[in-house]
Amino acid sequence: MPKVTINGVSLEVPQGTNLIRAAELSGQEIAHYCYHPGLSVAGNCRMCLVEITALSEKQPKGLPKLQIACNTLVQDGMVVESENPRVRAARRSVLEFLLINHPIDCPICDQAGECKLQEYYMDYGRYQSRVHVEDKVHKHKAVPIGPDVMLDQERCILCTRCVRFLEEVTETHELTIHERGDRCELSLARGKSVDNDYAENIIDICPVGALTSRAFRFRSRVWYLQSSPSVCSGCATGCNIEVHSRGGSIFRVKPRANDEVNGYWMCDYGRGIFVEEQGPRRLLSSLSRQVGGFVQARFEDAALRAVAACKDARGPLAVVASADLSLEEGFLLARITDELGGGEKIIISPRDSEVAEDGLLICSDRFPNRAGLLALGYVESQTPPARADCLLLARADPATLAGSWPGVLEDAAATVVFSDRRGESLEYADEIVAVGSHFEDDGTFVNRDGRVQRFAQAVEPPAGVVAGWRALAYVLSGLGGPTYTSAEEVFTALAADALDMPGTDYRALGNEGVPLPVEQPSRRQAG
Ligand code: SF4
Ligand code: SF4
Ligand code: FES
Repeated sequence: MPKVTINGVSLEVPQGTNLIRAAELSGQEIAHYCYHPGLSVAGNCRMCLVEITALSEKQPKGLPKLQIACNTLVQDGMVVESENPRVRAARRSVLEFLLINHPIDCPICDQAGECKLQEYYMDYGRYQSRVHVEDKVHKHKAVPIGPDVMLDQERCILCTRCVRFLEEVTETHELTIHERGDRCELSLARGKSVDNDYAENIIDICPVGALTSRAFRFRSRVWYLQSSPSVCSGCATGCNIEVHSRGGSIFRVKPRANDEVNGYWMCDYGRGIFVEEQGPRRLLSSLSRQVGGFVQARFEDAALRAVAACKDARGPLAVVASADLSLEEGFLLARITDELGGGEKIIISPRDSEVAEDGLLICSDRFPNRAGLLALGYVESQTPPARADCLLLARADPATLAGSWPGVLEDAAATVVFSDRRGESLEYADEIVAVGSHFEDDGTFVNRDGRVQRFAQAVEPPAGVVAGWRALAYVLSGLGGPTYTSAEEVFTALAADALDMPGTDYRALGNEGVPLPVEQPSRRQAG
């Protein structure tokens, strides 16, 4: 591996590493705008200029001109300076140039707090502008360029990240740059609108406030938001995400880089899941059936009555699960089933949907944990069990399925529902335990490639709602089974007992997850 020295720090990096990445690996940052690791190198912003004082082991002389770090690959013996006075002066000039016509928008700009112009201005700015505000060239502001994206043309620094994303990743070519000099501007290609399944990624990669989210604009200053690492539950791909919340509410979701799963991107559908989770279909309290209808109940009371109802049913038991149960919930339900004498555990979620695989990230299987439940011994079936006196419906709504489900639900002696949302099956329930959405729980999913990935609780569940694993652990201990006091304890137990991963805990999963040790039957090649 070639060895490079950057600002006196020496390290070996893989062949083909550019200087921006090499600096990152050495714990340093080289300022840049147009470079993005998920896109081709454009080399147009010139912010990443560095001085190469030795080219390589064989050519120890440096280069007379400053070079752009994004388009310079490390050579063995290369010595680089990215913060000496010559480089800093050049960078200051580049930044001054980029800011000549930039509006004085920071107080009203949604990018404030996460804007690379602001950040580098603090590091390399001139501080005394040589341009009068009235001399600035003005362009269009707040131009809707698609259902989700707003463009401010005069904030754009013409880095072309968004253009390259739409050319290289989605290949939909909606944006283009035209004109020259200070009239040069980003705009829609003729007849186009930025309306593809991944459009909002251009908001994430825009280094300044030129592209903003129409849903998020003016809703919160970003420094008030808390970030939690999570995994999207929108399909079996399991894109890694960050959930940004404030005061118990989720404000936005952004992709979290994981080379093994989603690279740097996610689809727009995945960004909007939290809206429905916070919507009117949420179950906000556990319910017990009494004469005359349902009454609100504490989850402990509903859970204990559920245990009693299952015991009284005496006959066969069946767990009817959605493939969006977490591993922890699936494992606890399996243990509850064992304590009650065993029974079928079926996944009723259809594997294929009307959503087509697109060869990028979107998966036709719209559920995040089918592979995990299969690994726990669940089987896929949309047909009701031949006979079930006790039904445990886990985030599943079988009454919406065709066939004999309504009759089976009607005939069951006891039907207990664990769910975060309302559905048709609730009409058949004896006890309903309101549980948290996956934004409100800790847990793990196994994606379509068999990767075990952890999601962390982003917000507290509403009052009256309890984390799914906690409700099920309560039931299990009420049946005389083991007691678990955290989702991690449940995971550590299931990793050893059910996944052949002894000693694996949340820490071992890390930020990017780990593969299951064996090939899983549900594995499919990622697009
Ligand atoms: S809108 Fe943003 S990402 Fe696109 S060219 Fe302008 S600055 Fe770059
Ligand atoms: S591709 Fe699937 S997992 Fe990824 S963000 Fe979209 S819905 Fe979520
Ligand atoms: S990041 Fe290197 S020229 Fe823009």
